[in-house]
Amino acid sequence: MLKNDTLIRALLRQPTAYTPVWLMRQAGRYLPEYNQTRARAGSFLGLCKNPDFATEVTLQPLARFALDAAILFSDILTIPDAMGLGLHFTEGEGPKFERPLRNEWEIRNLFVPDPDEHLRYVVDAVAQIRRALADEVPLIGFSGSPFTLACYMVDGGASTDLRMLKTMLYGRPELLHHILDVNCRAVTAYLNAQIEAGAQVVMIFDTWGGMLSAAAYQEFSLSYLERVVAGIKRSYGGDTVPSIVFTKGGGLWLEDIAAIGCDAVGIDWTMDIGTARKRVGKRVALQGNLDPTILFAEPRVIREQARHILTAFGHGEGHVFNLGHGVSQFTPPEHVATLVDAVHELSPAFH
Ligand code: CP3
Repeated sequence: MLKNDTLIRALLRQPTAYTPVWLMRQAGRYLPEYNQTRARAGSFLGLCKNPDFATEVTLQPLARFALDAAILFSDILTIPDAMGLGLHFTEGEGPKFERPLRNEWEIRNLFVPDPDEHLRYVVDAVAQIRRALADEVPLIGFSGSPFTLACYMVDGGASTDLRMLKTMLYGRPELLHHILDVNCRAVTAYLNAQIEAGAQVVMIFDTWGGMLSAAAYQEFSLSYLERVVAGIKRSYGGDTVPSIVFTKGGGLWLEDIAAIGCDAVGIDWTMDIGTARKRVGKRVALQGNLDPTILFAEPRVIREQARHILTAFGHGEGHVFNLGHGVSQFTPPEHVATLVDAVHELSPAFH
């Protein structure tokens, strides 16, 4: 039995004593202890691929801050790496694939990796982290969305305009649909393997969906998110496993995202969370949505801005406090402590 089940309850829109808080990228380069472990591991992928290191860095932010959840330390690009695209990270440039998908033959030969074989290190990390947590707080597993994974697989790395991806989307849509279909089956199997290994919540990151037109978002991202949500286990070992869907820049399509069957929707900082709550009604919980750059401000400002979001959401259940995107590597760790403590101090008044 979980000692702190506040996150699970909030995601299922059940009453809680306060608003739970965790932060996207809560483990990372802003923590000196992370950088030390990373140096020992040799590289970021060395951290991800070794369950002992992955467990160590997953627990680091929990040792410092009173967070209400742990998130598996890994990356969304493990799936295309397991498909054989050759992932590597270059300092300051982000992820790159050695063999991006550039021709029809490569696309038709894509396969769905078997999580227990090709992604064993992730499944093992989940099991090991879950044991190390000893039921203190829930463990969140995650995956990229089929569309966001395709962006990296086709463009070969982070791209500001998704030039190759969009060229394929409008020129050879059936090829992109084939990639998305394979990704959809891969993501579903991957999330189910994480659930079976001990993940108590799952989150799907659709980082690039917001770059699409309204019609293209429905056809190339949301429809596959819906299929993934329909294919993941709703409960495991007698416990409900809530799902969170986060499309960065997806505020315009909030009602549509809320209708795909997920338990919660993550929102970035561009929208007012009170307005978002009115729009989704009782259909889903909401997760968010402090602008991560507010963590560069002084503690007084961080507290005020946290209060602003709690007030905007208002009284009652169904809010998980988070940032609107990941913690920046330039964030002072003390400012994260200020935020977490502020949410815990200020939020009981709203419950
Ligand atoms: O939230 C957590 O603490 C769990 C760990 C986590 C990481 N990546 C660790 C990481 C999660 C949930 C992710 C997801 C991820 N990875 C996404 C979706 C969320 C988002 O940020 O939009 C995306 C798009 C990726 C792909 C990726 N991985 C990029 C673009 C980069 C480079 C970004 C950068 O800041 O340099 C990564 C690397 C990465 N993933 C780091 C971490 C801690 C930094 C790597 C390092 O130590 O050098």
